[in-house]
Amino acid sequence: MKMHLDEKIWLILSFGLIMGFMFFTGYQTFVLGMGPPSHMETIDPQNVDNIAPFDEPGVYQVGENEYEVVMTLEIFSFNPGNIEIPAGATVTFIMTSKDVVHGFQVADTNLNAMVMPGHIQKITQTFHEPGEYLVLCNEYCGTGHQHMATTITVK
Ligand code: CUA
Repeated sequence: MKMHLDEKIWLILSFGLIMGFMFFTGYQTFVLGMGPPSHMETIDPQNVDNIAPFDEPGVYQVGENEYEVVMTLEIFSFNPGNIEIPAGATVTFIMTSKDVVHGFQVADTNLNAMVMPGHIQKITQTFHEPGEYLVLCNEYCGTGHQHMATTITVK
């Protein structure tokens, strides 16, 4: 089979582009650590209430102005809800779902995470601005989905 030179050039170019992009995304993911969260921390969703730290959901101070919020999500609530933290606090949310996939979105921030049964989700945010932040579930989780909301008060 004889190939035109043009064809060869385009083949080499497109193959080179693919390899280039793969190398670039691989470099970002593995060398720069920019890959998506790996969800490597798993948990038995049937038994969340008996497994630390989810056996005691709540707001815990872990540093001078650092907090951890251990939170379980289930239809159709966040536990704990109506969280209060001081302004400037850095908060790590450690979350899991006891039933179906829920969302954890905090209005006016970059916080937006999917919380899946069987997996532990961790995200950190520093709250500089005092105010009442609306927390919403943004994954459809059943008939009460639109009522699944709470607040974070920063003061
Ligand atoms: Cu939980 Cu929608």
